[in-house]
Amino acid sequence: MSTNAQNPIGVIGAGTMGAGIAQAAAGAGWSVNLFDINQSLVDQAKENIANRFIRLVEKGRISVEESVGCQERITTTITLEDLSDCDLIVEAIVEDFDIKTKVLKDVGSIATKAILATNTSSLSVSELGAASGFADRVVGMHFFNPAPIMPLVEVVRGELSSEPAIQRATLLAEAWGKTVVQVSDTPGFIVNRVARPYYLESWRIVEDGVATVDTVDNAMQSLGEFKMGPFMLTDLIGQDINVATTRSVWNRLGKPSRLAPSVKQESLVERGNLGRKSGCGAYAHDDKDHVVPAIIMEPEEVEISEYLASAINAFCLEASCSTGSMLEKYIFARVLGGIINEAMWAVTEEVASQKDIDTAMKLGTNYPHGPLEWAGKIGLKKVQQLLAALNETVADNRFASPPFGTVSVS
Ligand SMILES: NC(=O)c1ccc[n+]([C@@H]2O[C@H](COP(=O)([O-])OP(=O)(O)OC[C@H]3O[C@@H](n4cnc5c(N)ncnc54)[C@H](O)[C@@H]3O)[C@@H](O)[C@H]2O)c1
Repeated sequence: MSTNAQNPIGVIGAGTMGAGIAQAAAGAGWSVNLFDINQSLVDQAKENIANRFIRLVEKGRISVEESVGCQERITTTITLEDLSDCDLIVEAIVEDFDIKTKVLKDVGSIATKAILATNTSSLSVSELGAASGFADRVVGMHFFNPAPIMPLVEVVRGELSSEPAIQRATLLAEAWGKTVVQVSDTPGFIVNRVARPYYLESWRIVEDGVATVDTVDNAMQSLGEFKMGPFMLTDLIGQDINVATTRSVWNRLGKPSRLAPSVKQESLVERGNLGRKSGCGAYAHDDKDHVVPAIIMEPEEVEISEYLASAINAFCLEASCSTGSMLEKYIFARVLGGIINEAMWAVTEEVASQKDIDTAMKLGTNYPHGPLEWAGKIGLKKVQQLLAALNETVADNRFASPPFGTVSVS
């Protein structure tokens, strides 16, 4: 199947993601026609893209000629009929099922051969396909923000998505320099699901009065080599956005206790403490150089049984390159154990291959290792022992792991 750059790409929605996707495709040599509902929106998008290209030239990443060429390859329109000759059309409009369905239906009747890719984060690709009437042509192409920079695309297979449509979307994203993971149409796909325990288990540690937000962040950075601790990261993402993703994934998965929203995080959002954008979240962000914990507490000493301590020590010995206090090891093991467990559930439920789950977590969230690679390094038996020991300390059975044998790591 060709990935011929002569065939134009359509992008619907010229907001954050649509403009970024247009830039990514044009940067790789494709002609792009970018649509939005009015002229000022597409003009603004063109201006934003031009500014980003100016910065790339200033940084010496591309030449002036390349920048001009890329920008010339992006045309804009407010007439949907102009997308009729497109090969692939990426929809990146508001996250609303009815609005997306209408747009897919309209554009599918205009561009009768085009693959219709939705960039939805939280809606069902199968349901969008069925409602639009073009289920075989509808696939998911889940880009990450900022789309020109983030290397990962989750290509989502709706129940009736045709194999050629999946393969072509995959080839095109790869031709734009992206790494593609293929994923079944399940809530949160890979990244937004498997990352949940990083945030949720950390919030539960604070809710339990075990440690402060900065202690948790430091433990995850020092023992786990995560680039940013969960509280600083959720402050950057926006606590409200993080809560909304949790609620959506949890509801759509049938409310498993593992992924239940954090009461403390939700009450923070209700009080308007959304993170850096509102000046305060888990931390108070007075300015870039002055960030202090905003959730003040006196941690209580955590009771760790001998059985749990030995499981934690065995887990950490293999999982971490550095040593830490028992509290730090407990925090790290609890959070990483939750992530590995979620990855194992995702494998068991055939969300994606083990390799793709690892790739997605490394490229979509910058994890230092894929969770299943980590499990392989630690040893599945030690992971299972940790989860069993942790599960004895909770009332909601959330560390219960999938049946032994469904995951094999090396
Ligand atoms: N922002 C992110 O970090 C991110 C990451 C991955 C996926 N997504 C998904 O990408 C999609 C777009 O998100 P965004 O953050 O770019 O939103 P945005 O609000 O920045 O942009 C949405 C654009 O869609 C346009 N639009 C609205 N209705 C339209 C219609 N009927 N026809 C054509 N255009 C219409 C709006 O005018 C706007 O320009 C959503 O589905 C979102 O879930 C977002």
